[in-house]
Amino acid sequence: MYKIAVLPGDGIGKEVIEEALKVLSAVSEKYGIEFDIKKYLFGGSAIDEYGTPYPKETEEACLESDAVLLGAVGGPKWDDLDGDKRPEAGLLALRKSLDVYANLRPAILFSSLKSASPLKDELLKDGLDVLVVRELTGGIYFGDRGTEKIDYGYKAYDTEAYTTKEIERIAHIAFKAARNRKKKVTSVDKANILDSSRLWRKVVNEVSKEYPDVDLNHQYVDNCSMQLIKDPSQFDVILTSNMFGDILSDEASQLTGSIGMLPSASLRGDKVGLYEPVHGSAPDIAGTKKANPLATILSVAMMLEYSFDRLDAANDIRKAVNELLEDGYRTSDLGSGIILNTEEMGDMVLKYLKR
Ligand code: NAD
Ligand code: IPM
Ligand code: MN
Repeated sequence: MYKIAVLPGDGIGKEVIEEALKVLSAVSEKYGIEFDIKKYLFGGSAIDEYGTPYPKETEEACLESDAVLLGAVGGPKWDDLDGDKRPEAGLLALRKSLDVYANLRPAILFSSLKSASPLKDELLKDGLDVLVVRELTGGIYFGDRGTEKIDYGYKAYDTEAYTTKEIERIAHIAFKAARNRKKKVTSVDKANILDSSRLWRKVVNEVSKEYPDVDLNHQYVDNCSMQLIKDPSQFDVILTSNMFGDILSDEASQLTGSIGMLPSASLRGDKVGLYEPVHGSAPDIAGTKKANPLATILSVAMMLEYSFDRLDAANDIRKAVNELLEDGYRTSDLGSGIILNTEEMGDMVLKYLKR
C-alpha cells in the first residue's frame, strides 16, 4: 500500500488533479497496486482556511507519505500578500521540507504534436527529447533577500548562492540520467558574470571526471535560451540552477506544443518524491474547463516510475496519451483536432488505458 498526499492547490490545479486521480484509480485497478490517497489544503486554499500556505497538518502528511502529488498554487487573490506569506512561499517550503533537490522536467515532443510546436518541421525531424535537471532547493530562491529603506526609496535584494555540495549532488543526478539517454550533459550557467556560476562550472567539471562515458559542454544561459529554439536536437540533458531551470523549462515546454504537456518529478535520491506539472494555476482559464490535464497525468506516470518502481504502469499511461494524441484528440492549448475539455481528456486517457 503506497501512501500518497494529494495537494490540489488553486485554480486549474484542482481541475487537473481530479483527472490525475481518475487515472491513478484506473492504474490501481488494472495493476492491482493499492494506494492510500488523501487530499490536503495547500497554497491559496490553505491561506483562506488556516492563514498559512503550508499548514502543519499538510506538512506532517507529506512527510509521512511515499509520494506527494501537487496541482498548482497561486492566483491574483493572494498576489498582494507579503512574499513569505504567499502561496508560492508554501511551495518552496514544501520542496525544502521534503529535501527534493533534484527537479526532473522532461520536454518530449509527441510526434503527432509537431504542428502544435512553434518550431519549423525541419528542426523537429529528429523529434525533441530534452531532460531539464533543475536544482530545486538552493540558489536565489532560498538565498538572503530583503527590502530596506534608503535615502531615496528602497533597496531590494535577492542572493544567488551555491555550495560545492549542492552542486555536486545535482550534477551526479544529471550525469546518471544522461547515462541512460544520449550521454550528453549541457551545464547552463552565467559564469562570465556570477561567482556562483564559476563555482558551478568548476564543480560540474570535477564531477564529470567520474562519468568519462558522458560528454559535457557548458553554455551561458542567454545562449542556451537561444540554442533551444535554433537547434533543440543538440540537447540531451540540461543541468542548471533553480532559477535558470525554471525559465528554461517553460521555454522547452512550449517547443513540445504546450506547457500543459510537461510533467515533473522532484526527488532527493531515494523513493520519496514530489510530482507536479510544470505549469501554474492559470487564473486566465481556471473554471473554463480548458485546462490540459496531461501534464499532471504524465506526472502520475513519473510517480509510478520513480517512487513505486512500476515502469510498466508508467509506460502504459504514456502509451495511452501518445495513442489518443495520434487519434487527434486535443485540449484547446494543443491547436486543432477533436477538442476535448479537461474532464473529457481525463476520461479519454481512461478509455485508452482500458483498451
Ligand atoms: P501559468 O503556468 O499558470 O500560465 C501561463 C499560461 O499557460 C497561461 O496562459 C495559462 O492559461 C497557460 N496554461 C498553463 N497551464 C495550462 C494547462 N494545463 N492547459 C492549458 N493552458 C495552460 O503561469 P502564470 O500565469 O505565470 O502564473 C499563474 C499563477 O500560477 C501565479 O500565481 C504563479 O505564481 C503560479 N505558478 C504556480 C506554479 C506551481 O504551483 N508549480 C508554477 C507556475 C506558476
Ligand atoms: C514552477 C513555478 C514555481 C517555481 C513558483 C510558483 C514558485 O514557477 O514550479 O516552475 O518558480 O519554482
Ligand atoms: Mn515555473
